[in-house]
Amino acid sequence: MTRRTVRIAMNGVTGRMGYRQHLVRSVLALREQGGLELGDGTVLWPEPVLVGRREHALREMAGHHGLTEWSTDLDAVLADGTIDIYFDAQVTSAREDAIRKAITAGKHIYTEKPSATGLDAALGLARLARDAGVKHGVVQDKVFLPGLLKLKRLIDGGFFGEILSVRGEFGYWVFEGDWQDAQRPSWNYRAEDGGGIVVDMFPHWEYVLHELFGRVTTVQAHVATHIPQRWDEHGKPYAATADDAAYGIFQLEGGVVAQINSSWAVRVNRDELVEFQVDGTHGSAVAGLRNCRMQHRAATPKPVWNPDLPVSHSFRDQWQEVPDNEPYDNGFKAQWELFLRHVALDEPYTWDLLAGARGVQLAELGLKSSAEGRRYDVPELAL
Ligand SMILES: NC(=O)c1ccc[n+]([C@@H]2O[C@H](COP(=O)([O-])OP(=O)(O)OC[C@H]3O[C@@H](n4cnc5c(N)ncnc54)[C@H](O)[C@@H]3O)[C@@H](O)[C@H]2O)c1
Repeated sequence: MTRRTVRIAMNGVTGRMGYRQHLVRSVLALREQGGLELGDGTVLWPEPVLVGRREHALREMAGHHGLTEWSTDLDAVLADGTIDIYFDAQVTSAREDAIRKAITAGKHIYTEKPSATGLDAALGLARLARDAGVKHGVVQDKVFLPGLLKLKRLIDGGFFGEILSVRGEFGYWVFEGDWQDAQRPSWNYRAEDGGGIVVDMFPHWEYVLHELFGRVTTVQAHVATHIPQRWDEHGKPYAATADDAAYGIFQLEGGVVAQINSSWAVRVNRDELVEFQVDGTHGSAVAGLRNCRMQHRAATPKPVWNPDLPVSHSFRDQWQEVPDNEPYDNGFKAQWELFLRHVALDEPYTWDLLAGARGVQLAELGLKSSAEGRRYDVPELAL
């Protein structure tokens, strides 16, 4: 086996996503398994170079994981001709500038979503990358999760008959930060720092709906800031200027109607933090991050509306678990592997900066729809 090194500048690795999902669960996990076998006698060996603002934090993290390279000087890292890929998991507002520089320096790009804070910028990045001839990818991890892979298996197997509707419920209570620490960074709740649940979650809903059910053709949303004041990482109160809940209705190409609630101000009475119920003429399913339950039309009970009688059976027990049938890897790692194969072998890769721009477009139109109280068409994007 020949080992081929791929050097990746990883910016924003001190953050939640950068550290846990991308560095530890993806890139370091690939090293732990001995690298990525390409199937042609080569093993791809990812070599991360940690990039960030705080030298102390980077040095400590590198030492903890036995890594030797880190830098607080992004320009110097990008000027290093041995770096193949620039990866970005910084706060969203810092992303566009860094990616522009990296493309200009000729690096392949892999980035967290949203790829930019606005559609013009997101499309601009996609065009710049195309013109520079570099490879590019945007994190669209949810379609690599076991629950949604099982849902996709049901769709591909024709289980649903005609799919009629999708109802998604995402959310959990994010503590305000006063008497218990908030479990998400405070910038998420400040619009001026690139925060907001629409900007955060609509990019996910765009590719989930698009890949599983059809391209989103219209959006109608109502957004709210239910919790107007929060406390930051230093215990300081601040005004929450960004939306923390979004109630969206999406029409999809082919006629499916999707309705998705997203909220950081709800308490969970579900089996998972996100669940999608899909109803079709021949069957229904409820998919979460890991699990998926289904009910075929032949096993559908016949409820009769009668509030005078207590419910005599558990509706939840009338669903059947969809089996795994295969081992599932971490969704972020699975997507990293495909991106690395795209870079190394030129294999096709659809989750690129144009796909990322579609997510940004949906978020932008969702916010506009809410502000103006009207439904918006979602035009198909092209470069
Ligand atoms: N794919 C997903 O499921 C998913 C989930 C959560 C977040 N995200 C995305 O990942 C990115 C990072 O989110 P996170 O939750 O890890 O955030 P975080 O606050 O935990 O991390 C942000 C990182 O950016 C760095 N940074 C650079 N410039 C900064 C600045 N001016 N202010 C503050 N931090 C700065 C921080 O040092 C840190 O390393 C966001 O773009 C977010 O949209 C994706």
